[in-house]
Amino acid sequence: MKIPSLLLGFVLSAPLAGASTSPLPQIVHHDGRHALLVDGRPYLILGVQAGNSSAWPAMLPKVWPAVEEVHANTLEIPVYWEQFEPQPGHFDPSVVDQILREAREHQVHLVLLWFGTWKNGSSHYLPLWMKDEPDKYPRLTGKNGKKVDSPTPFAPAMLEADTRAFRALMHHLRETDPQHTVLLVQVENEPGAWDTIRDYSPTAEKFFQAAVPPELLTALGKSAPAGANWPTVFGSDADEYFHAWYVAHYIGQVAAAGKAEYALPLYVNAALRDPINPPPAGNYESGGPTDNVIPIWKAAAPAIDILSPDIYMADGPRYQKVLELYSRPDNPLFVPETIGMGPLTRYCFAAIGHGAIGWSPFGIDFTTYGATPSGGTRLTEENLAPLALDFRLLAPMGREIARLNYEGKVQCAVEEKGAPVQTLGFGSWKAVVSYGVPAFGMHKDPKGNPEPIGRVLIAQTGPNDFLVGGYFCRVDFQPADSSAGRQREYRRVTEGVYENDAFRMLRIWNGDQTDYGLNFSSAPQVVQVQLGTY
Ligand code: DGJ
Repeated sequence: MKIPSLLLGFVLSAPLAGASTSPLPQIVHHDGRHALLVDGRPYLILGVQAGNSSAWPAMLPKVWPAVEEVHANTLEIPVYWEQFEPQPGHFDPSVVDQILREAREHQVHLVLLWFGTWKNGSSHYLPLWMKDEPDKYPRLTGKNGKKVDSPTPFAPAMLEADTRAFRALMHHLRETDPQHTVLLVQVENEPGAWDTIRDYSPTAEKFFQAAVPPELLTALGKSAPAGANWPTVFGSDADEYFHAWYVAHYIGQVAAAGKAEYALPLYVNAALRDPINPPPAGNYESGGPTDNVIPIWKAAAPAIDILSPDIYMADGPRYQKVLELYSRPDNPLFVPETIGMGPLTRYCFAAIGHGAIGWSPFGIDFTTYGATPSGGTRLTEENLAPLALDFRLLAPMGREIARLNYEGKVQCAVEEKGAPVQTLGFGSWKAVVSYGVPAFGMHKDPKGNPEPIGRVLIAQTGPNDFLVGGYFCRVDFQPADSSAGRQREYRRVTEGVYENDAFRMLRIWNGDQTDYGLNFSSAPQVVQVQLGTY
């Protein structure tokens, strides 16, 4: 179905066709923690993102089997501006409709990715009718005066066109998704610029020499003489901060227009800089929500609910640091892209441990291409197995995890090479997690698994009660204060499964299953633990 532009105004003001009684997906905040409410209750996105060119009807049959294979509860999938608006003001929602229909058939939720003005810092998804008019929809100018393959945020016609198209998309979702299959929408994709820190065109120069917007100064708690320009206020950071502000300001306007149409939570994803040893600006994508400009983005784009890290780092300290930097009282942690194969899938637990509302590896479909630490590869059931293992355990208990996380009760541990024992503190108890120990036998030193694949989630559900699930590790509980002379007793350890969001008991663990600690292998197992002392 195409919505002619003339009809758009009428359609936009028409009464809501598929009015829903269930509440909209919504982000809520409490005590610096966050939850994504779906149907009014916390929800954990255990998602996969399809490849960039997989959101075409002919590709969808190769997408859904991968979603099923890994037990994902959500599919992230692009909406291409070039497909959605083939002629100016003529919108074609047929592909969106098909994706919605098929998602419902597969009983998964959706996160839609609006590939609009920016896609990885470029503007390759502009419709052809825009590409035909590069002066009206321009790229930015580098310091050497040459065009750079990145859109400028100083292009009113492009802003107007993107705003109109994004509004049409959000309007269409409002009309056709009363059951809230779509949970979140990503506005643009990894915006910013590679190969230049900012736009150096004459128009951009005028803004650069003009006064820094007072709302930015207020947000950053900075005082400056009236009318002070960017270089005066920000010195050597001026180029980068300037680009971040104007990219965010542009996207903030697109987002606000879409949100006014249909108030789904919106997010923007970031191509990251090194979180531990950041290089100088110019060595990473400039202008997107990198960790150093999060406050600028928050001030410039208040309609954006979440700034999200795309984590392609394969080392523990950097991965953990990114999780830390993006889980803030003013920013829910949501990882919309990451590596989803091999031992790195254990960082799903790390993200949950940082309170994430969702975690979703990139490029998970059976078209042709997937991301691994060593480059692209064709996905197979075998290389998806570690991800499937995570989601098999976590997806059925996703609601419970999201609720407990919102209450601040969840901690996770993931194995790192050379650290075979980790300890998590829970008030009067500590949980000792060890890796590379045989299932039976108390006196074996943990050596670590041959590859670091251990991971565990532990939630404290009462003063002496815990919920524990994980893989390739042993968990033991001890009183935090060893000097009190009391020792731990397992009063009861109950293994169960989650069905319809509720724990159903399967058996009680005792004897070999508890005498040497609680051992988690390659089987998806979750236990309720009731502790005492003697
Ligand atoms: C990050 C982008 O956001 C994705 O769309 C994709 O291009 C991946 N990089 C890797 O290919």
